[in-house]
Amino acid sequence: MKYGYFDNDNREYVITRPDVPAPWTNYLGTEKFCTVISHNAGGYSFYQSPEYNRITKFRANASFDRPGHYVYLRDDVSGDYWSISWQPVAKSLEEATYEVRHGLSYSTFKCDYNGISARKTLFVPKGEDTEIWDVVIKNNSDAPRTLSAFSFVEFSFSHIQSDNQNHQMSLYSSGTSYEDGVILCDLYYNTDDFTGFYYLASSFDPDSFDGQRDAFIGPYRDESNPLAVEQGRCSNKVQTCYNQCGSLHKQFTLQPGEEIRFNFILGIGKHEAARVRAKYQDFAEVDAALEAIKTHWDSRCNKFQVKSPNEGLDTMINAWTLYQAETCVVWSRFASFIEVGGRTGLGYRDTAQDAISVPHSNPRSTRKRLVDLLRGQVRAGYGLHLFDPDWFDPEKADVKPSKSPTVVPTPSDEDKIHGIKDTCSDDHLWLVPTIINYIQETGEEGFLDEVIPYADGGDATVYEHMKAALNFSAEYVGQTGICKGLRADWNDCLNLGGGESAMVSFLHFWALQEFVALAKHKGKAADIEKYTEMAANVREACEQHLWDDEGGWYIRGLTKDGDKIGTAQQTEGRVHLESNTLAVLSGLASQERGEKAMDAVDENLFSEYGLHLNSPSFATPNDDIGFVTRVYQGVKENGAIFSHPNPWAWVAEAKLGRGDRAMKFYDALNPYNQNDMIEKRVAEPYSYVQFIMGRDHENHGRANHPWLTGTSGWAYFAVTNFILGVQTGFNGLTVDPCIPTAWPGFEVSRQWRGATFNIKVENPDHVSKGVVSVTLNGEAIDGAIPEQPAGSVNTVTVIMG
Ligand code: IFM
Repeated sequence: MKYGYFDNDNREYVITRPDVPAPWTNYLGTEKFCTVISHNAGGYSFYQSPEYNRITKFRANASFDRPGHYVYLRDDVSGDYWSISWQPVAKSLEEATYEVRHGLSYSTFKCDYNGISARKTLFVPKGEDTEIWDVVIKNNSDAPRTLSAFSFVEFSFSHIQSDNQNHQMSLYSSGTSYEDGVILCDLYYNTDDFTGFYYLASSFDPDSFDGQRDAFIGPYRDESNPLAVEQGRCSNKVQTCYNQCGSLHKQFTLQPGEEIRFNFILGIGKHEAARVRAKYQDFAEVDAALEAIKTHWDSRCNKFQVKSPNEGLDTMINAWTLYQAETCVVWSRFASFIEVGGRTGLGYRDTAQDAISVPHSNPRSTRKRLVDLLRGQVRAGYGLHLFDPDWFDPEKADVKPSKSPTVVPTPSDEDKIHGIKDTCSDDHLWLVPTIINYIQETGEEGFLDEVIPYADGGDATVYEHMKAALNFSAEYVGQTGICKGLRADWNDCLNLGGGESAMVSFLHFWALQEFVALAKHKGKAADIEKYTEMAANVREACEQHLWDDEGGWYIRGLTKDGDKIGTAQQTEGRVHLESNTLAVLSGLASQERGEKAMDAVDENLFSEYGLHLNSPSFATPNDDIGFVTRVYQGVKENGAIFSHPNPWAWVAEAKLGRGDRAMKFYDALNPYNQNDMIEKRVAEPYSYVQFIMGRDHENHGRANHPWLTGTSGWAYFAVTNFILGVQTGFNGLTVDPCIPTAWPGFEVSRQWRGATFNIKVENPDHVSKGVVSVTLNGEAIDGAIPEQPAGSVNTVTVIMG
């Protein structure tokens, strides 16, 4: 069953039926002001941090997607009313038609009802901390119509998300006032002139207003039947205490064929509203601001565009997967309808992986995130599992306007900096390939020499930070020389403690390979020797202790008592995705073992919706293995199709040269390919999700936790760098694809260091892998394609065979 389609010309997903089985969300904002909004205009806004500076309320779990950023319309003759988004009024779909267009950082809601067409576009202009609701209403009937429009948002009680649940105090800690067409909400706990105030304004002079939620909604009613709308007029009440809202009302008459345009503006700051309101009363400013958002995304997406025989891949890579990856980098992993801002910090491993995907489209944020991560690393080399970058930023250490010091005390060093027992064994290692990828993209080799403090004192260059990470993993090994599992590895629920993690040793090997290449590029003889030897030791330990001969795959690890996890002998948790894929991705496995391991992945873990994380799922609690054994079977880390490591399998198959298999795995997980099975998938088809219920669960195929998953970054990195094979290096660009044999070729437009490379790959012999010639602007190239002058447009032809 389908609820919409991809409009690739406009980079929009168009929802044609609003009664989708779950809220399908989008993210508005490209800088500091963010709104998470559903196809029903439900959702919430925050400024910079989803935990602090919450602007509008959201009742997580209490309802599907309420409250939201709503516009109600009322026929002032009949008294009939509706909302431009299907919810909250929810007119019958027999009587009204709705369309929602989720674009990149904007959403447009359209409704046709009873001779009136209405459109509302929500977006956050660049350079402003404000959300515009651009509304156009047209009378398509043949009689004059007198209508009323009402806005509605429910302001947060407090800037701190958790206070929104704390009714007792919060009820008495915010208030509203009204002046010159603006409702201002102030927060008693936050007296900062900027972050302590929210406002709602409009381009018109209102006929009535409400700052009191309960006056607007009315007793024993909800957003679907607000009293003010029913009565055709707001109460003109503001208040201190209780629940605050922003409703502005205007009545207007439209002749047949006539239309009216106005806007509502939701923003932050005590003194901002008048300026912003005056600015956007000029609709040319509104149009220009939306255009600037589109230009923003054109410029990011155009850094890499592909035209291949796989339409789903093109659609996702050219827009949606990059957009999702950027969303994770910019807004962190804690702002969605599932993660509703309960935490503010950055997950170390999450951020370090997300940042590998967007150095070409967003070098500034990538660099910032790398610095955040390096500041969150301790001298011993490990990363602080969850950390708030502000704790370690000298410029923000004392002044935190976003966090009133009386409410959010700065934690003590003991609270911020955890010891080894709370350390995750993989976190710090992801840093190494991500930093190297950033340098290869930007050419900013000076970054390696930048001195950055450690979280627990002292400092070192970026290059030395990387060595500290590699050394930590060499030191914290168990009996067999495999890295200790510690609190967890990439799999949060695999809690091996002093047991050993195969996945981390393979990751260590990958990081070492990347680092040795860097050391060679920089001519660091001692480091080349030391880390080459370290890599050889890791390889030896892995090949000796982690290969399961009977099964023909790599095991997942060992418990602290030395029991193997993931052997052919086991009936639970027999085959695992992370260890087998990383063994190959890292370059550690030989071709022979690599092929066997990935065949085992295909045989044991593949399903039509993607690869399972492990199979069969664990059914017997075993605390030596970890919490994973206590999770329902087929769910999350216990035998679900956990999306994030799926792209590791695509890379592994690409490295083995098996393009058909890589694409089979890619196509299975691609949300685009699940657009016509929403009755199963449920979640939005333009976003990867954290996990899809596995075959051991009765809802096999149901997709959960959209948007905030490392899958997007990895999917983007895997497809662009390994399947399409366009990779940046220290000294040039290489094109070494691994594609399905059926493909006759493909085209990529890649911008790198200011130059454009229009790459045409031809595959006359229908191979998966192998390049016989490369030409740059007609000249044969041996080796990497060198950097070209900024602004130049270059033609690259690659012949496979
Ligand atoms: O790797 C983790 C991630 O850090 C948070 N979400 C779950 C993943 C797998 O456990």
